[in-house]
Amino acid sequence: MHIQRLNLLNFRNYSSQTVDLSPGLNIFVGDNAQGKTNLLEAIYVLSLSKSYRTSRETELIKHGELQTAIQAKVRKMAVLDLEAVISQNGPKKLLVNAKQTSASSFMGQLNVVLFTPDSLQLVKGSPSDRRRFLDIQICQIDSVYRSTLLKYQRVLRQRNSLLKDAYHNRSLLNQLPAWDSQLLNLGTRVILRRAQVLADLQRYAQEAHGEISQRRETLEIVYEPFFGRLEPGWSGETIREAFIGELQEKRREELQRGYSLVGPQRDDVVFLINGQELKLYGSQGQQRTAVLAYVLAELQLMHAETGELPVVLLDDVLSELDQSRRSFLLSILNNKAQTIVTTTNLGYFPTDLLAEITTFEIKAGTIV
Ligand SMILES: Nc1ncnc2c1ncn2[C@@H]1O[C@H](COP(=O)(O)OP(=O)(O)OP(=O)(O)O)[C@@H](O)[C@H]1O
Ligand SMILES: [Mg+2]
Repeated sequence: MHIQRLNLLNFRNYSSQTVDLSPGLNIFVGDNAQGKTNLLEAIYVLSLSKSYRTSRETELIKHGELQTAIQAKVRKMAVLDLEAVISQNGPKKLLVNAKQTSASSFMGQLNVVLFTPDSLQLVKGSPSDRRRFLDIQICQIDSVYRSTLLKYQRVLRQRNSLLKDAYHNRSLLNQLPAWDSQLLNLGTRVILRRAQVLADLQRYAQEAHGEISQRRETLEIVYEPFFGRLEPGWSGETIREAFIGELQEKRREELQRGYSLVGPQRDDVVFLINGQELKLYGSQGQQRTAVLAYVLAELQLMHAETGELPVVLLDDVLSELDQSRRSFLLSILNNKAQTIVTTTNLGYFPTDLLAEITTFEIKAGTIV
């Protein structure tokens, strides 16, 4: 899939901007603070229905304005019109072909893979960062997972508040078994789906990583549920059994602490290079390489699951890669997925490549 045309109205530092994109590589060059990341953020909002930079959506509205609209014409099997409208006063509107729709059915229309300097948090950050990366990936390709995850989060909140209130009012505990069984059923499905997707991602990532490291290093990415490693031959049933065991074992401590200690909100993803944990022992370069391999794996997984290549958004990442990784990335992307790259310096791109493709300049919220 690719974006043919993008329209921004009062989005961050853009007033009114239309840009026609090529289905291949698009390079946006500009100095700092001109609107490069803002442009990628706008595209991301059309994909995931919300920003990755802020949870306060009114920040997206240009200062002094009441409303912002982002709109794109997306080409897949058919041409699709996507629009997000965010207002100072009034709820957000998401539209597909001019018809208003829920966030859940808006998501998955335009798929993106995002790679920014912050993507390094996938390795260096907290378990919650890693769960977020994985959930974003699965939510884009699986509407059943989107609704299961939402339901799980609701059940978890309610179970937490019950555990908190039960601290002072023990009679409430007779409601706990009902919440336990929902936590168990939904939580098992969340873990199972995450583990399945991660197993696929790891296969693709291992392949890409082997190529980048010229087979000198092996990358492993392991899903680690809150109850410990998954044994070989894991299934929904073994996950469920382990979950039940933890529910029993942690019961007393949960009552003492007043919140849930079991469930996929405590899961993690572990990255290993040649068997060593990357977060603890990896060099910066090794960590970057692993993240690059993971991003490429996301691209392949989306392609395999949806039959369409996602749009790749690269925010200023070439400056952080060395020459060989940079050319590897560009060679993979060139002539495949639509790729939108921002940079402060065109010098990172080979001149023969620059001769073939469209480059845009961004200056103070205007694309020229
Ligand atoms: N709601 C808003 N209204 C007006 N301007 C905004 C708004 N939000 C952000 N900006 C401005 O947008 C400008 C550009 O931001 P952006 O993050 O896109 O820069 P950039 O080109 O990616 O720069 P860098 O190379 O430093 O990453 C910033 O100067 C910021 O002040
Ligand atoms: Mg930026």
